[in-house]
Amino acid sequence: MIYITGDTHGEFARRFNTEAFPEQKEMTKDDYVIICGDFGGVWDIGWESKNEKYWLDWFEGRNYTLLFVDGNHENYDRLYGYPVKEWHGGKVHELREHVLHLMRGQVFEIDGKRIFAFGGASSHDITGGLLDTDDPDFKKKKKELDRGYLPYRIRHLSWWEQELANEEEMEEGRKNLRACDYTVDYIVTHCCSTGTQAMIAGNRCKPDRETDYLEFIKNYANYKKWFFGHYHDNQNVSEKEILLYEQLIRVS
Ligand SMILES: [Fe+2]
Repeated sequence: MIYITGDTHGEFARRFNTEAFPEQKEMTKDDYVIICGDFGGVWDIGWESKNEKYWLDWFEGRNYTLLFVDGNHENYDRLYGYPVKEWHGGKVHELREHVLHLMRGQVFEIDGKRIFAFGGASSHDITGGLLDTDDPDFKKKKKELDRGYLPYRIRHLSWWEQELANEEEMEEGRKNLRACDYTVDYIVTHCCSTGTQAMIAGNRCKPDRETDYLEFIKNYANYKKWFFGHYHDNQNVSEKEILLYEQLIRVS
């Protein structure tokens, strides 16, 4: 079985308890739950705070294997510090034996399905700007922003430039897709293609190199369904593209 859901932002209790998700009672570690980015379980500064450790161990104790692509709200400095492993045909960061980050551009064979994973997105909630703790005016600027209403973020504390895919990761994706003739069953991402994003969010979200890359994938790859998160809504955008937020749906 494969279940899939949207952004969790470190809030796991309500969506994954046995009352909300009773099907898990019939599952095993060979069944999977996938989160379409903004996992949020690796966020705090330092190394695995008590709360994070609790939830990572909690998932490890569930009747399924938890998989996620990264979103734009992850602590990349830490996420990329977990060991890289080969798993089901692609590369993962292993947070726990059964809690795995599906790395960008990888193709996995899971439950008889071929899945292309590609996390990352641009943050749109930074209209107030980005602050740097090394900036001599940091405190002054922060004070000013705290007084205003515009959201802002701080480098390496609440914003990481790795949120947006780089050329190397995009090439990794093209290479792995070429190896399977650009044919997969499912695509799992955080943001979506430029054209799809314009349909969902209008001018609210600007196109970027990653949405343009996903536009290329959309036009070039053969796939049955494309699941993504980021836009905080549940919506069948087209016959193949499914935007997920709190909904947890079975796909296989
Ligand atoms: Fe999100």
